[in-house]
Amino acid sequence: MPHRRPVPIARVGFVGGGQLARMMVKAARRLGCWTLVLDPTPRSPAGQVSDEQIVGAFHDPDALRQLAERVDVVTLDLEDVDTASLRQLQAEGTTVRPDPALLAVLQDKLTQKQRFADAGFPTLPFVACPEPGPEAFEAFGYPLVQKARRGGYDGRGVAILRGPESLDRMLPVPSLLERFVADAREVSVLVARGVDGDVRSYPPTEMTFRAGDNVLDLLVSPARLPERLTDRCTELARAVVDELDGVGIFGVEFFIDRDDKAWINEIAPRPHNSGHHTFEACATDQFEQHLRAVLGLPLGSTEQFVPAALVNLLGAGTGRGAPVVEGLHEALAMPGVSVHLYGKREARPGRKMGHVTVVDRDRDVAMDRARAVRATLKIGAEES
Ligand SMILES: Nc1ncnc2c1ncn2[C@@H]1O[C@H](COP(=O)(O)OP(=O)(O)OP(=O)(O)O)[C@@H](O)[C@H]1O
Ligand SMILES: [Mg+2]
Repeated sequence: MPHRRPVPIARVGFVGGGQLARMMVKAARRLGCWTLVLDPTPRSPAGQVSDEQIVGAFHDPDALRQLAERVDVVTLDLEDVDTASLRQLQAEGTTVRPDPALLAVLQDKLTQKQRFADAGFPTLPFVACPEPGPEAFEAFGYPLVQKARRGGYDGRGVAILRGPESLDRMLPVPSLLERFVADAREVSVLVARGVDGDVRSYPPTEMTFRAGDNVLDLLVSPARLPERLTDRCTELARAVVDELDGVGIFGVEFFIDRDDKAWINEIAPRPHNSGHHTFEACATDQFEQHLRAVLGLPLGSTEQFVPAALVNLLGAGTGRGAPVVEGLHEALAMPGVSVHLYGKREARPGRKMGHVTVVDRDRDVAMDRARAVRATLKIGAEES
């Protein structure tokens, strides 16, 4: 007997209404779900496309309870969530995926790394650093990377300290210290894992950086890696998500050092920026895949049919205000270009306002065209 279910097939609640939730909501509605978003900003990016939104704080236990009471499954847009409240709701019968107990481990960079190390995964040497300062740094040795355990500080959660002269970059919060990898290549692998333990991974994506200033240039998929490293990263990513018993989609970030050794950097328990191209390039996009996983539906094919390059659209200029987009016609006139704007009602310098995917049978053409788009398409606050 084929499965039968009434439509909507499920009611899905999202903690957080940013761009990731926006793209998940669209996927959920395509699949025949009803959606509800919790976000403090009225008409948030996800709220605009959702059946309904609750306007409330992510950390407000009452708002979380209101969300839980109206849906069949709760999932999230961000990892900085109130896991204690979510565990309480879970104990009372709400389905929360991924599991709040796992989120609690992952939202603290120290417990996350400890978990990788305990399970025998290659992660860079590190120590806990409850009181950052010159003594702790000397003891660990420069160059090092200081990472805030939680949430970051002034929007900064990572400080690269090359020597005592860079002490002014220090973050005054409980942290971990990690070995610095010179000339690291950065790769990520998206892995979906279902309720039944089925695991599917996408081809690795590479983050490229501009020579000189090390600013993120663009994302390219499949990553330009020798087959051995593609296989190694894929195998590690699948194994770590399996080991964590994760349900949903996970972005597993790697560093590859000069000796071609792959180190697991961190895991994001949600759709990831490095997987946005799956929407145009793969049989099943990461957002739908996440929904399939958290709803207990069969996972889809992760096959990638065409190479892709991706650039983020960051708020330009210096002011904040209603966004204005420039160069849209010119960008859309280029072949293989898809523009995604997130519906944020205020542009601010550096804020992620959207992204552009470029697909082409030739990966180098896709990369060149993505750079051309970035030089053409701008979004920023209207100048008064
Ligand atoms: N050990 C390291 N060696 C060299 N570079 C590093 C190291 N750790 C972090 N970085 C650099 O800092 C960036 C951010 O680090 P990380 O991914 O750990 O933090 P994050 O807060 O999750 O940042 P993001 O949100 O950008 O992923 C990395 O993408 C990398 O460019
Ligand atoms: Mg990261």
